[in-house]
Amino acid sequence: MSLVLIIGATSDIARAVAHQFAKHGYDILLAARNTDDLASDVTDLNIRHGVKASAIRMDVRELELHRSWYEGLVIKPDVAICVSGYMGEQSQSQADSLEAMKVIDTNFTGCATLLEVIAADFEEQKKGAIVAISSVAGLRGRKSNYIYGSAKAGFIAFLSGLRNRLSSSGVPVLTVLPGFVATRMTESLPLPGILTATPQQVAGDIYKAYRKKKSILYTRWYWRWIMTIIRCIPEGIFRKLNL
Ligand SMILES: NC(=O)c1ccc[n+]([C@@H]2O[C@H](COP(=O)([O-])OP(=O)(O)OC[C@H]3O[C@@H](n4cnc5c(N)ncnc54)[C@H](OP(=O)(O)O)[C@@H]3O)[C@@H](O)[C@H]2O)c1
Repeated sequence: MSLVLIIGATSDIARAVAHQFAKHGYDILLAARNTDDLASDVTDLNIRHGVKASAIRMDVRELELHRSWYEGLVIKPDVAICVSGYMGEQSQSQADSLEAMKVIDTNFTGCATLLEVIAADFEEQKKGAIVAISSVAGLRGRKSNYIYGSAKAGFIAFLSGLRNRLSSSGVPVLTVLPGFVATRMTESLPLPGILTATPQQVAGDIYKAYRKKKSILYTRWYWRWIMTIIRCIPEGIFRKLNL
């Protein structure tokens, strides 16, 4: 049976993704900073879907430990899904370099360097699949969240290059670009209901895109068109918009 590693497994989206894959018979390895938070998830996945589920500690910002952490996994995954992220407050990131670094490291540096380690293994084995969550926020910088957005943009470019590199090894890399999703990350934001997806909808989209070996997934689908319009707005006009 195939094993799916989910990094940032306490996220609302990650939890929905875990159930989506478990429903289709995949064993699940949940990785998060606090494994105590995952105990009930492990039991739940096991009871509801009859798959093997386990949990392991992982902090994507501990860059120096990535290689030994991965080498220490008793069974290597067939699919690696990177969900971890941190938005923080834009004003705080502007004022505090360490806070900005936390945003950049959690959304970009930590995820990219960990995926490099996993990619090297998949490349050598000529098998495996990588799924990673960036954001539509990475497609155009806005004053309200450009530090988070620039980290997501870096991650999009990283995944594009990784996909390019791994294509000759038969390892697909899926870049996931969610728009608004109702989760712990966004609970304090006034999101427009009509454009806001549930974690379960996003997880369903991810599973389908993974099965089809797609390269880029906008979720929900309408974000492709929203972002096409937003990216076409001339810089002179965009500057004046209060976004
Ligand atoms: N919600 C949205 O509207 C939206 C839109 C676009 C993209 N996204 C992206 O979707 C992904 C999931 O976010 P979410 O909405 O489900 O929010 P969430 O529930 O806040 O999930 C964020 C996850 O990242 C984990 N994390 C933070 N720092 C970490 C670290 N150093 N090492 C390992 N894990 C770490 C958190 O773990 P802890 O429990 O340890 O804090 C949490 O599980 C993120 O990458 C986010 O940027 C979300």
